[in-house]
Amino acid sequence: MKTFHIETVGCQMNVLDSELVTASLLREGYQYTSSMKKADILLFNTCSIRQHAEDKIYSALGRLKNVKETYPEKIYGVIGCMAQKEAGTLFRRAPHLDLVVGPGQIARIPELIHKIENGEGPQMELSLERKGRNRHDVESSYDFFDAGREKVARQNPYQAYVRIMFGCDQFCTYCIVPLVRGPEQSRNTDEILAEVRQLVDQGCREITLIGQTVSKFYDTTTGTPLSGLLEKVEAIAETTPLERIRFVTSHPNSMMPDLLAAVRDLPHVMPYFHIPAQSGSNAVLQRMRRGYTVEKYREVLAAIRETVPNAAITSDFIVGFCGETEEDFQETVRLVEESRFKNSYIFKFSPREGTRAFEQLEDDVPEPVKRRRNNELLAVQNRISEEDSRAFLGREVEILVEGTSKTQASELVLIGEEKMSEKVQLTGRTPCDRIVVFDGPMEWVGTLQKIRITQTSPFTLFGERRT
Ligand code: 5AD
Ligand code: SF4
Repeated sequence: MKTFHIETVGCQMNVLDSELVTASLLREGYQYTSSMKKADILLFNTCSIRQHAEDKIYSALGRLKNVKETYPEKIYGVIGCMAQKEAGTLFRRAPHLDLVVGPGQIARIPELIHKIENGEGPQMELSLERKGRNRHDVESSYDFFDAGREKVARQNPYQAYVRIMFGCDQFCTYCIVPLVRGPEQSRNTDEILAEVRQLVDQGCREITLIGQTVSKFYDTTTGTPLSGLLEKVEAIAETTPLERIRFVTSHPNSMMPDLLAAVRDLPHVMPYFHIPAQSGSNAVLQRMRRGYTVEKYREVLAAIRETVPNAAITSDFIVGFCGETEEDFQETVRLVEESRFKNSYIFKFSPREGTRAFEQLEDDVPEPVKRRRNNELLAVQNRISEEDSRAFLGREVEILVEGTSKTQASELVLIGEEKMSEKVQLTGRTPCDRIVVFDGPMEWVGTLQKIRITQTSPFTLFGERRT
């Protein structure tokens, strides 16, 4: 029996795509192996958001060249965003590659692998058109690929991502996503709900609805916005063991009152928002074409804090974007200082070929300055995260137990009865997405537990269950 392995980097979309590819290959009779070396079929599910992510894939491919000479029957593939962006370049720089498949065509991977096995040579599929999914044809037949969910293909059987949107139409000047994932399209509500029900039947306790601009979700066939979809998923949670509903990533321009009210009013929707600000300087935001000012962003935060006072908010920032002055950067520092994000993901600007920033703006902030700004902003955020974590000391929080730090789906599913009551170090999350570590038996995994916090660090809380 042939084995396969998928190395996944990038965002939640990629994690979900890898799960779907895993499920489809298992269905075809291939066997999963955790060993990259031993796998007969090795796929890299890739990210193009920064140069660094691409460089790592090219060097991994370089290391495989000799292996392929010794074992020519092995199949190597690059799938996902970098496949789309680099396309033919990949075959040129890594002639030992067999398969290049963009994010729009991952459903075809088993079929393309069969072609390679039948001696039809290297295969490449890059179309971003989804059957029945182009914007002029939303009501016609669906591509049901996302519905093929299987518990054993997931990292954790109790949590799952559900894609509610494909692509992105924002065209922020720094960003490669619209080019590699295509135009923004919301999925049909009934199809999403069917998938949620399927996942709950498989034992899922937490569903995270994902989209590049998830707050812009709008199902044109039924006129349903994200708040309406959340209500419908909440209705499923009311009558099933589904405990938690989340959604990422939000855009500041679509945080409408109905969405905030839905998070406030629906008990299973968690008080957590990821809303990237990217910069605290209006000049930079304008060059990024983010479509809002920092004043508008502050209003959004104020509205959330008023409607959902216990909400945790996280953000993304890019430092060293084209033309960013020290004063621009200090405005970002001020925004982070006053916003009290639970966490901020901070990135040094990386020019991406094909984007407007690459074509029209100059990457003029020197690397050492980018690095210094990155560290400075990180230090501000870490101090805030630490202070906010410390406020949890002595408090009791409700945790959805996810597993031990190292457990994988296969182990969770296969774990023997006798091991279930042994105490191990478990991890889980609070409603506002803070990670909590505590001791308990494996049989707690997938359940809600009340844990009292006894110790804190910036990004992890430690606690125990009161007996
Ligand atoms: N350079 C650096 N960071 C980027 N991001 C997106 N594009 C780039 C780029 N070219 C960051 C943004 C986004 C996150 C997913 O990655 O902050 O929100
Ligand atoms: Fe990376 Fe963006 Fe692709 Fe996700 S969608 S894998 S973040 S390039």
